[in-house]
This record gives sequence, C-alpha cells and structure tokens, in this order.
Amino acid sequence: MPATLPALPYAHDALEPVIDTMTMQIHHGKHHQAYVTNLNNAVAGKGDLENKSAEELIRNLSAVPEDIRPAVRNNGGGHVNHSLFWTLLAPKGKGGGGEPTGVLGDAIKASFGSFADFKTKFQEAGAKRFGSGWAWLIVKDGKLAITSTANQDNPIMADAVLTPTGAASGKPVLGVDVWEHAYYLKYQNKRPDYLAAIWEVVNWARAAELYAAAK
Ligand SMILES: [Fe+2]
Repeated sequence: MPATLPALPYAHDALEPVIDTMTMQIHHGKHHQAYVTNLNNAVAGKGDLENKSAEELIRNLSAVPEDIRPAVRNNGGGHVNHSLFWTLLAPKGKGGGGEPTGVLGDAIKASFGSFADFKTKFQEAGAKRFGSGWAWLIVKDGKLAITSTANQDNPIMADAVLTPTGAASGKPVLGVDVWEHAYYLKYQNKRPDYLAAIWEVVNWARAAELYAAAK
C-alpha cells in the first residue's frame, strides 16, 4: 500500500491557541485519514501503481490511468500535502514561531525584502486562493517564490497540471493549508486571521531542512 497515516509529531492540543484541539483531531484523524484511504482504494489492484509512493504518483500523474487520475491527484496530493504540513508546524516556543535564520532567513530577506514583506505576500497568496487550496513557499529555478495551489495540488506536480490552475511548480519549503477544514471551527470565515496567526506555530527549522534539500 502506498499510503499510511503518519502520527502527528505533537499532541492534538499542542498548537493551541493558534490551531484548536478539535480542528487538529478532525483534520488529522478524519480528513487526512480519508485521503489515505481513498488513495489506497484508487490504486488497489492497479499493478505497479500499488507499490509507488504517493509522492511518486503525483509527480507523474500522466503515468496514472485516466479513470483513476482525479482520485490519485486529489487524494495522493492530500496525503503528501498533509504529511508535510504536520512537520512544518510545532508548538509555539517549542520549535514553532520566531523568524527563519541562517541560509533560509537570508534568502527570504534577499527575495522578498524582509521577513515582514514575505509574510504579507504569503498571506495574500493564501487569502486570494478561491475555494480550497494551499499557500506555498517554493524553490523554483534555484530561487524562492510564493505560489498557491488549488484543492490538494502540490508544487511537485507537473507544469501541465498546475499551470491551468494558476499555480507554479517547484520544490516546497513551506506549505499552509487554506481549506476551511483547517481553520473554520476557530476562525470561521476569517481566513486572513488564521493566516496571520499561523506564523506563531511555523517550524522554521523544518522549512530550513527542506530549503537545503531543494537547493
Ligand atoms: Fe487539510
């Protein structure tokens, strides 16, 4: 089977008050679990596809038969995105919050002017994504860029998949879920407030690892 639900690297209540306990329970235990289950169901009995990781599957969606391609795109993307997202968060003051330092911190300042300017642009990308999707900091052609994807698309998907949705491809450094299921219980319709608060629990050490690998 390509997918299993990873354990959260912290307790459900560890991101309070930025992300509430019930949201974490439902988001991880129900939504993420559903992506895992539905991906496994989609590729069951499909030969080689059963042995590929979700990441391999969504990187090369053109190799997936058309009848299951939407299911693999949505649920494979959902599994990859959420598996990454949990690791990019950490309890405030225990790995979460603060500012990126070192090579990543310097690159953010060089690319966006300042950390504050970066945050503004990232929040705009997430706020403007109509419907459901994700905001991303990516490495594209060796440089940092901000993009947003629709639904459960991930920047590692091909340009042919992403370009029609207005998203850019690249290697993810930071991804933030802007589906209503990520914030609605606490923030209701105020997605910008959720995006403004999320910085308190971003795990910059993890983002720095992804940036180093992407370079
Ligand atoms: Fe989500």
